[in-house]
Amino acid sequence: MVKYFMNKQLLILSISVTILILNALCTSGCESAKYANMTPGEKLYNRKCSSCHRLKSPVEYSDEEWIEYVHEYGRRTSETKKQLIIDYLQKANDPIIADPNNTLATVVLHSATPTD
Ligand code: HEC
Repeated sequence: MVKYFMNKQLLILSISVTILILNALCTSGCESAKYANMTPGEKLYNRKCSSCHRLKSPVEYSDEEWIEYVHEYGRRTSETKKQLIIDYLQKANDPIIADPNNTLATVVLHSATPTD
């Protein structure tokens, strides 16, 4: 009985440890996978602008509107970061590379700015 109890405790302990490890791996692994191919501006846009509503597609607004909205909704974001977000949105709303999900724009921008 004592032996059984010990094993059960050990089992629970090892399951908890496994869950903790997997969790830690996923937090860093999943996040870097999601952001891996993004420019700093796109990354910031995803991080800072998706907490209250879904991300608006860059093509939904013009260059001027983005300046206005990033300043309006990014009040708690530094000027430098806001500028990176604006730069990203203004590139990504280019009608030539626009498509409904903006996947193409993202791909084109990534290959166009390898150093970003
Ligand atoms: C603190 C919550 C919050 C965050 C963070 C936030 N927004 Fe919003 N956003 C809102 C709300 C609320 C609305 C709807 C406002 C309304 O309809 O009056 C909105 C609407 C918008 C709109 C639609 C135009 C409008 O004014 O209705 C745009 C564009 C927008 N947000 C861009 C952004 C961008 C860019 C960021 C990141 C810099 C951002 N938001 C971050 C709360 C937020």
